[in-house]
Amino acid sequence: MTSIFAPLSPTMLADPHAVYARLRAEDPVHWHDQLNAWVVTRHDDCTRILKDTAAFGSDPRALGKPIPETVLSLQTLDPPEHTAVRRRFLHPLRAREEGVWDAEIRRAARDVVAGLGEVSDFVRDVAEPLALHAVCVLYGIPFPADHERFRTASRTLVLGMDAGLDPARREPALVARDEINGMIARWRADAAPGGVLAAVDPGDDRVLRNSLRAVFDAGYSTTSNLLSNAVHRLTARRAWRGAELAALDGRAADELVRLAGPVQAVSRHCKEDVELRGRRVRRGDVLVVVLAGANRDPEVFPDPDVADFGRSPNPHLGLGRGAHACFGGHLGKQLLLVLLGELSRLDLVEAAGEAVLRPTATQRGLDRLPIRIRRGSAATATSP
Ligand code: HEM
Repeated sequence: MTSIFAPLSPTMLADPHAVYARLRAEDPVHWHDQLNAWVVTRHDDCTRILKDTAAFGSDPRALGKPIPETVLSLQTLDPPEHTAVRRRFLHPLRAREEGVWDAEIRRAARDVVAGLGEVSDFVRDVAEPLALHAVCVLYGIPFPADHERFRTASRTLVLGMDAGLDPARREPALVARDEINGMIARWRADAAPGGVLAAVDPGDDRVLRNSLRAVFDAGYSTTSNLLSNAVHRLTARRAWRGAELAALDGRAADELVRLAGPVQAVSRHCKEDVELRGRRVRRGDVLVVVLAGANRDPEVFPDPDVADFGRSPNPHLGLGRGAHACFGGHLGKQLLLVLLGELSRLDLVEAAGEAVLRPTATQRGLDRLPIRIRRGSAATATSP
């Protein structure tokens, strides 16, 4: 049977939320033939799946299913193996965060905004270079000379996350993973002491080697997409006076992650027969946990489609939950706020044309976002 869940269709690419809302209301644990998986959209079901690693795992090998060697990383492991690998990254990441991180991202954001012309492509000129710079700071490496190749490979990898819907994307994404592994191996020659790359030497451990790529790319692609999606969301309806942007704080950053966060869905493998909202989910079944659907669940978020920049509490799932919860999301949010702080020095920030959506479902982002800025005191914003 054809499903209403067709995330690569033009309608859902433009706006997936009407479909998420229908699924939440009518079929919250929805069987999808093409994906051969359950699609889960309510906040409480999604939270349960993410937290219960005994029943819902990330490692298909626990069920006797193969996984390509280059895909195996901390993201595809279950505790306790997962816990040990995750710890290897957490310590150097925190040390970097307490050290050079803050000063470096402020300098990078200032430079990027200072270099903007009146009209620019926010994705290419701001979000991607700034996110890449930020992850390089964490890894203790200079901004890479081969950054164009990295950006292209990372985009291919993100497209490949939708291989269940478009199998032609699988092979290029496997090649892109190997390519990024090769880049990271080369960047090691310039790794400063104290950064993640110097702290984690994988030797011939393929899980650690792939995890170095997974952490780097998870940080880069999600953060650059968060910056683009957030500024797109802010400027889609109106122009912003710089001073208004200065008022956005940590609660606003969380609200932007809830409404415009890039990660639409993650998947889990069911490890034992369970009942989920009256459905028999069997050992071996795959579940697509639609975080972006859960993030607009009216049972949890009053007026779920409205941006309330003072919303509190805000238990969104945009950074995941449980054993695999994101350990860099607070850095992504901080970078967003630092960037908005820089933009707040301008008189005006506004859309300068149609945004071009990236044709991706699992991680939502943009290929192009034309913006116009005005410096000096001559500008007048259109009224809100
Ligand atoms: C410096 C920035 C970031 C870094 C280094 C980073 C890194 C990671 C890593 C390594 C994981 C996997 C953790 C594990 O499997 O134990 C992860 C998970 C996740 N990240 Fe991030 N991340 C960053 C920013 C972000 C941002 C900005 C978002 C979204 C707004 C995000 C959303 C997520 C989500 C939803 C998961 C859960 C995946 C799952 O449950 O399978 N991350 N992140």
